[in-house]
Amino acid sequence: MLLEDGRGICAYLTGPDRMSGLFSKQAAVYAAARPVYPKDLFTKLAALTAHHRLAWDVGTGSGQAAISLAEHYDSVVATDVSEEQLLHATIHSKVRYLHTPDAMPGEDLVAMLGGEGSVDLITVAEAAHWFDLPAFYDIAHRVLRKPGGVIAIWGYNYRVSPVEDMMTRFFNTTLPYRDPRTWLFMNGYKDLPFPFDDIGLGREGEPASLDVDHEMSFEGLVGMLRSGSAVTTAKQQGVDLLGEREVKELEEGWGGASLVRKVTFKAFLLVGTPRAQD
Ligand SMILES: C[S@@+](CC[C@H](N)C(=O)[O-])C[C@H]1O[C@@H](n2cnc3c(N)ncnc32)[C@H](O)[C@@H]1O
Repeated sequence: MLLEDGRGICAYLTGPDRMSGLFSKQAAVYAAARPVYPKDLFTKLAALTAHHRLAWDVGTGSGQAAISLAEHYDSVVATDVSEEQLLHATIHSKVRYLHTPDAMPGEDLVAMLGGEGSVDLITVAEAAHWFDLPAFYDIAHRVLRKPGGVIAIWGYNYRVSPVEDMMTRFFNTTLPYRDPRTWLFMNGYKDLPFPFDDIGLGREGEPASLDVDHEMSFEGLVGMLRSGSAVTTAKQQGVDLLGEREVKELEEGWGGASLVRKVTFKAFLLVGTPRAQD
């Protein structure tokens, strides 16, 4: 069944699934704490697509990338498996947030996006490691415009300058609770399959670097760490990785609870276009 509420969110009714649960519980914290991506990334990506009718942001979360895409495309479809994430998404007249449960057939997804060859740009920010990649890439190939369509996938991890040491110490505490898929972003997407033609902005095995500057309070830092999937998993197992003692240690590493820092996420980017034979 398809529902549509006042915020334009469509939801296929479905039971709760494990994946959406990893982000749903922290959706409010997530929306407030995660970095916003640089405007010039979207300008560069838009310059690579032949047309500017439709962009699809997959695993949109609270719409961090979708909102910026709206500056360059006539319309944006922003999808996520977590309804809770979408409920915290930033509303924008050009962005249509749609819930796509794990079990949604590919056929329905292609139709929902407007059919084969209808999408000019696909973006996936900090989410591709969770996907069933062969199934996702199959749909991506089908919906991308040919020629002229572009797909961009990026992510970030513990490499946050100038607080890398503190972040590494914290990330080490998350190791027992990490889903194996998160190693893809821990390793800077160097092992992420990316079966698309290279267009000069990072390719399979050799992602390009992308600096994401962010002004962050200590509260924002703790919120961001709290919204991570491994912290949620630990909590489900009765372990609080951000208890009083841990937060105190982070505060010392950060330089004080009232300090607002300019930090840079050392992100990584893969951009491509469908291969000629696809
Ligand atoms: C770390 S968040 C990233 C959110 C946002 N793109 C950002 O840049 O902050 C990962 C998101 O991917 C979503 N997700 C995970 N698997 C998915 C799938 N198969 N299809 C769509 N979304 C998915 C999660 O629900 C979550 O909102």
